[in-house]
Amino acid sequence: MILLTGANGHLGANLARRLLKDGATMRVLLRRASDNSTVEGLAVERAYGDLRDPASLLAACRGCDAIYHCAAQLSTVAGGEQQLFANNVLGTRNLLDAAAKNGVRRVVVSGSLSATGHRWEGPTDETEPFDPFEEHLPYARTKAAVEHECLKAVAGGLDVVIAVSCAILGPNDFKPSRMGQLLLNYAHGRLRAYVPGGFEFVAAADIVEGHLLAMTHGRSGEKYIFSTQFMTVSDLLALYGEVTGRPNHALCVPAALLEPVARIGEFAHRHLKIGGRQLLTPAAIRLLRLERRADCSKARSELGYHSGSIADAVRDAYDGFVSRGLIERRQSFAVRSLESERTKA
Ligand SMILES: NC(=O)c1ccc[n+]([C@@H]2O[C@H](COP(=O)([O-])OP(=O)(O)OC[C@H]3O[C@@H](n4cnc5c(N)ncnc54)[C@H](OP(=O)(O)O)[C@@H]3O)[C@@H](O)[C@H]2O)c1
Repeated sequence: MILLTGANGHLGANLARRLLKDGATMRVLLRRASDNSTVEGLAVERAYGDLRDPASLLAACRGCDAIYHCAAQLSTVAGGEQQLFANNVLGTRNLLDAAAKNGVRRVVVSGSLSATGHRWEGPTDETEPFDPFEEHLPYARTKAAVEHECLKAVAGGLDVVIAVSCAILGPNDFKPSRMGQLLLNYAHGRLRAYVPGGFEFVAAADIVEGHLLAMTHGRSGEKYIFSTQFMTVSDLLALYGEVTGRPNHALCVPAALLEPVARIGEFAHRHLKIGGRQLLTPAAIRLLRLERRADCSKARSELGYHSGSIADAVRDAYDGFVSRGLIERRQSFAVRSLESERTKA
């Protein structure tokens, strides 16, 4: 029996479907008060609990051989430190403790590239330490502390491997994720401006594969970075244009101009509780400007990891949104220009 935490989330939803396709018997940890429709129709056993409730985790781990721990509180804004600490750091500690008490063979914990140090002169690999004196979001600090919890558990005799994710793009995005929301905004013509820069992205199918490889071939106490490719924001928007059939009309605005706007937005959101979901946070702008690149050589050489395609991941995400009625399908941009050329001829 496999226990999966975070099955409602973007990564967990993809991992659950892949595990079921591979014939796994699975239990998922769900919170009673959450919208759990994501797992409806899936042949999984449900365990209700919370990462902050150790007793519920003891029960959820009972009889399990392996655990995929994908649950976490994600955040790209300042503030909320106590809640992030409780969900991510103490939650992981509670789960690893329950796993050890239940004799679980191996736990794969989802990590974040934000918990690995930034290398200015080239791609970051697993050896680059997280620098606590740099400017970090509370979320990144908790993900670094999660890695400490994993190493403490390994020192205590538990087998734990960390599968590090970059920004995920792909289908089964039910909440939707920040990247999914960006695609929705783009498809509805609501993306007015963006900042130059770029980031390392991972296709949902690739990070799922990474988790499976970490479970089967990873070395205990090690972390492995999984990425598909680095992309600039303009490349990503060009891809969104191709997939949605809507050319990119968003303005590329220098970060120095958009940052004050993002700071005001964050202040209004955090202290005055106004404004919707903020995608362009000051931290997101800072991250894009860093143009972080990831080196997956360790995953390739030790685990036999091969990355797939971001274009496919975006297409699958788009198809998922179309099938759920969140986007109305348009004729592809490329097809339309071909057809207009044919008409002219
Ligand atoms: N998405 C990315 O781009 C990205 C990038 C780097 C790393 N990661 C890492 O990948 C993992 C999965 O991320 P994701 O994108 O799938 O996140 P997500 O879509 O926000 O899903 C998070 C999941 O965690 C669950 N959860 C949160 N707090 C919980 C608690 N106290 N008890 C039980 N369940 C709890 C949520 O359950 P509810 O439905 O009940 O809220 C949800 O199922 C995380 O470890 C994250 O740090 C993600």
